[in-house]
Amino acid sequence: MNIVAILGSPSKSSRTARLIEHAARRLQPAGIHVDSVSVYDFPADDLLYGNFAAPAVQALQQRVSAAQGVIIATPVYKAAYAGALKVLLDLIPEGGFAGKPVLPLASGGSPGHLLAVDYAIKPVLAALKASEIHQGVFAVESQIGRGADGELAAELAQRLDVAVDEFAALLRSTPPAAATPRLPDDFISRLISL
Ligand SMILES: Cc1cc2nc3c(=O)[nH]c(=O)nc-3n(C[C@H](O)[C@H](O)[C@H](O)COP(=O)(O)O)c2cc1C
Repeated sequence: MNIVAILGSPSKSSRTARLIEHAARRLQPAGIHVDSVSVYDFPADDLLYGNFAAPAVQALQQRVSAAQGVIIATPVYKAAYAGALKVLLDLIPEGGFAGKPVLPLASGGSPGHLLAVDYAIKPVLAALKASEIHQGVFAVESQIGRGADGELAAELAQRLDVAVDEFAALLRSTPPAAATPRLPDDFISRLISL
C-alpha cells in the first residue's frame, strides 16, 4: 500500500520532517510505503504562481490520486500552518483527498499553539474531502533531535507510534477510492488567465 506524505516546511533541516521519517519507519513493516513530497521538489515559480500545468505539479496530483492515504506535516507558523504547506495543498484538485484517511502532524516552538492542528489544518483537509482525519500529533520542537538520527523524545515517539498504528488501521479499513477525475491539463491555467 502506498501513501503520500506532504511536508510543509521551508527549512532544509526540518524538524517536522523527522516526524514523517519516524512514521514511515513504523509503517514499513506493515507493508505501507510512504512517498514523501516537499516544497523542494518543485520549481518555486510553479508553487508561487499556482502552475497547475507544470509537470512536477501534474506528477504530484497523480501521486496523491494513486495514494491510499495522506500524511500532512507542517511547522506552526504564526499560529497556523506554514505557507509552504498551503501552496502545496492549493495545487491539489478539488476533492483530491476523497476516500483517503489523513494523519496530520505538526511541530511548534511551544505547546501554546497545540490546537493549530484542529483550528487551522483540519478545515483545509475537510475542504479536500479527506474521508477521515486522524486527531493528529503535535510535537514541541525541543522533543525533536536535530542530529543525523533525528531522534525523538520518548514521550513524543510513544504518542506518534500510537497515532501511526491507528492511522494504519484506518488505512486498512478504508476501501480503495476510485481515482479522482482529472480536469483537462490546461483547464485551471486557462481559468486563471480569464
Ligand atoms: C516564521 C516562523 C514562525 C513561527 N511561528 C510559530 C508560532 O506561531 N507558534 C509556535 O509554536 N512556533 C512557531 N515557530 C516555531 C516553529 O514552528 C518550530 O521551530 C518548528 O518546529 C519548525 O519546524 P521545521 O524545522 O520543520 O520548519 C515559528 C517559526 C518560524 C520560522
